[in-house]
Amino acid sequence: MTEKIIILDFGSQYTQLIARAVREANVYCDIIPFHSAIDFNEHIKGVILSGSPCSVNEQDAPMIDIKAILDKVPVLGVCYGAQLAAKVFGGRVEKSDKREYGRAQMLRQLDDKLLQGLSAKSQVWMSHSDTIKELPVGFEVLATTESIPVAAFKMSSEDPNPLYGLQFHPEVYHSTEGKKILYNFLVNICGCAQDWTPASFVEETVAMLKEKIGNKHVIMALSGGVDSTVAATLISRAIGDRLHGIFVDNGVLRKDEFKEVLETYNEIGLNVKGIDAKALFYKELAGKSDPEAKRKTIGKLFIDVFHEEALKIDEASFLGQGTIYPDVIESVSVHGPSVTIKSHHNVGGLPATMNLELVEPLRSLFKDEVRRVGLELGIPSDMINRHPFPGPGLAIRILGEVTEEKARLLQEADHIYIKALKDKNLYNEVWQAGAILLPVKSVGVMGDERTYEFTLALRAVSSVDGMTADWSHLPYEFLADVSNAIINNVKGINRVVYDISSKPPATIEWE
Ligand code: XMP
Repeated sequence: MTEKIIILDFGSQYTQLIARAVREANVYCDIIPFHSAIDFNEHIKGVILSGSPCSVNEQDAPMIDIKAILDKVPVLGVCYGAQLAAKVFGGRVEKSDKREYGRAQMLRQLDDKLLQGLSAKSQVWMSHSDTIKELPVGFEVLATTESIPVAAFKMSSEDPNPLYGLQFHPEVYHSTEGKKILYNFLVNICGCAQDWTPASFVEETVAMLKEKIGNKHVIMALSGGVDSTVAATLISRAIGDRLHGIFVDNGVLRKDEFKEVLETYNEIGLNVKGIDAKALFYKELAGKSDPEAKRKTIGKLFIDVFHEEALKIDEASFLGQGTIYPDVIESVSVHGPSVTIKSHHNVGGLPATMNLELVEPLRSLFKDEVRRVGLELGIPSDMINRHPFPGPGLAIRILGEVTEEKARLLQEADHIYIKALKDKNLYNEVWQAGAILLPVKSVGVMGDERTYEFTLALRAVSSVDGMTADWSHLPYEFLADVSNAIINNVKGINRVVYDISSKPPATIEWE
């Protein structure tokens, strides 16, 4: 089993960034709520205490027994975690009388393993309203800033394990040497071997899946997306054709996507059955123009189709899913320890009578890690680097009622746009791109003829996780070429516009 770092989450918006920085150093880590008991064993090498929106001086401030943890492993407190450590050992933490938010210059005062190799003056990111006024007896200041006397500290006694604290956030991008500090904690202080890599993940996961699934069968809905493809490939490595993948054509996929994705699954060696359910979806979508009604219809039909297929595989005892780590942590810290299956495209809502046990090989991975594992498994990079695509597909990019004819129009136009992005090497520059068919007709001329046809909006955004997004500044010449190509080749569209709204306040999708 891999060595691991435990991150105790006190509710900071940055906790996941700590985890990502630790994983980037090839050290595995888990985020658990601060009040959970840590099940110590020889694989746990250290504990990091996260920040928090709370103040250590509040009456119900989240508390833990730091001494008990220090009996076992080294501890690093970040922001609230550092203030808590200082307070627990008898220091004084008070509301800050200076502004301690944003960039600050950290000045190193002592040479220590934690700050080894850092510049004497280093930019860090502060975000707190309390500050450590006085350190407990036996603690040493490792660094200050111009405005605060304690930016980094250490409990001097190394017996049995060292305790460190940072008033700032080493995990955020603006702490320019923050990753180095975390590296020092992981490697110099906790002694981590940094052997958690995509290859070691694949090896361990395949072994775990073999053990868990034994000689039983797994069914799984595939969407052509990165997560389900990587999850299925791992399962298939473990049990071969006893994985039964089901890929449904709901009529609102991209042009040729059904055929091409099935071909890729075939290349990867996955046992997947394609179901053409287009007619059924178009029939049920007829007359529905409300976005939520369209989403619900697609979600329900998908489950019906999947269920019907799944019943044909009567030896199945497991349901494979591409759930990833952010889905799991969200549900842990916000709703308690129960795990919810998210949204219809993850096939939540299958009848409980099917009695299937879940297999979720990517539960511990962030999205970028899923991609790296996918490449390690030899999945084509085209598949791995695909833009996100919503479960309800083009149905939420056809504003108003969805018809087969409108789906065909949008597929053609979207295809021209996406192909042009790829041809001009712009596809990987944007985070997500797509075309939206508007329920607006306008007048145009073509040759001697007057036209009265649909308007198409092009959308492209840059983003990290889809929570916020900026519209992409695609070159005018590129937009002009795409507009010409669409209007000249897609009969039914005579006007193309480009969406220059950012999220917030706009959303990425139009519905
Ligand atoms: P919005 O439009 O909320 O989109 O800014 C953020 C991200 O979520 C995707 N999205 C969806 N994905 N089912 C999905 O699976 C949906 O109903 C859905 N709605 C939006 C969107 O494509 C973007 O990546």
